[in-house]
Amino acid sequence: MKKRIFVAGGAGYIGSVVTNELLKSNYQVTVYDNLSKGHKSSIPKNAKFIKGDILDRRKLERTFKETRYDAIILFAGRIEVGVSMEDPGVFYLNNVVGSFTLVETAIANGIKKIVFSSSAGVYASKDTPLVETDLIGPASVYGHTKRITEEVLSWYNKTLGLRYAALRYFNAAGATPPDRGEAHQPETHLIPLVLQVALGQRKNIKIFGNDYPTPDGTCVRDYIHVLDLASAHILALKALDKQDNLVCNLGNGEGYSVKEVIETAREVCKHEIKAIVAPRRPGDNAILVANASKAKKILGWKPNVPDLKDIISSAWEWHKSHPKGY
Ligand code: UFG
Repeated sequence: MKKRIFVAGGAGYIGSVVTNELLKSNYQVTVYDNLSKGHKSSIPKNAKFIKGDILDRRKLERTFKETRYDAIILFAGRIEVGVSMEDPGVFYLNNVVGSFTLVETAIANGIKKIVFSSSAGVYASKDTPLVETDLIGPASVYGHTKRITEEVLSWYNKTLGLRYAALRYFNAAGATPPDRGEAHQPETHLIPLVLQVALGQRKNIKIFGNDYPTPDGTCVRDYIHVLDLASAHILALKALDKQDNLVCNLGNGEGYSVKEVIETAREVCKHEIKAIVAPRRPGDNAILVANASKAKKILGWKPNVPDLKDIISSAWEWHKSHPKGY
């Protein structure tokens, strides 16, 4: 019998791609999303859709009583690092209370497995690739909400036997054209914003700070293709049959500065892409690069699109065909 997966936040950028890959791997999928940020049209047709909020315990109770799920994948949550520093309450409510509500309702209804979208944002900045045992020290409220949720999962694991995988994504990027791509509202992420400049929708890209302790003074990140994130989720689901907890990084192990990302996008798009230097954005780490050896060893995970140029090319293809997003 097909396994049923409950995907909270499955109408979002990463959630919709993972949903599609789950369906291709023969899982049954229910997408649960309040559509506050997600796009209904990005949900694959073969998935069941329930409009709902992870803060709505009654709706979750009804949903879990109606259908038995083998596992949950939890994407739903706010993601904008900068916004989290201006409006922390929204982040603690949605990401911490929301995740807690979902976990508590799941456990009460006999669901024992969860794969959680955690983040590189839980770490303190470091100039060599991060391993899972490195210092935790979120630089933003966003990162802190992810860390708190990891800890909640860990305590549910120790006390009530919840099996969980916390996947610490580095910078998700790229698209799966023609269907799915990155279209946040508002958009705060570097690559889609750079591509909007190439499309003539913005005059320039602001470089948030050029005085960081990095080779060219701009922040360094590890960009990972959304399909490579998706394959890790499917492997993590399977791993939870054998082990009851797992925390691992997902990244390519290569850092690119903001300037290098813009330069690569210029090559891909063959547009000038005007960049101007602006003040630092609060909450940014200087350098976040993954050592993903653990995911490779334990999950047998291997990224298929590790090259930044290929990642940006896939995003560019999608953006050209969806200039207005979804
Ligand atoms: N940046 C700019 N100009 C912009 C937008 C971003 O210079 O207009 C810079 C940022 O300051 C940062 C880098 O580009 O140095 C990447 O910024 P993003 O907003 O694209 O991504 P973040 O690194 O802030 O955050 C992303 C995800 C988080 C995740 C984090 C992990 O949004 O969910 O990666 O590194 F936690």
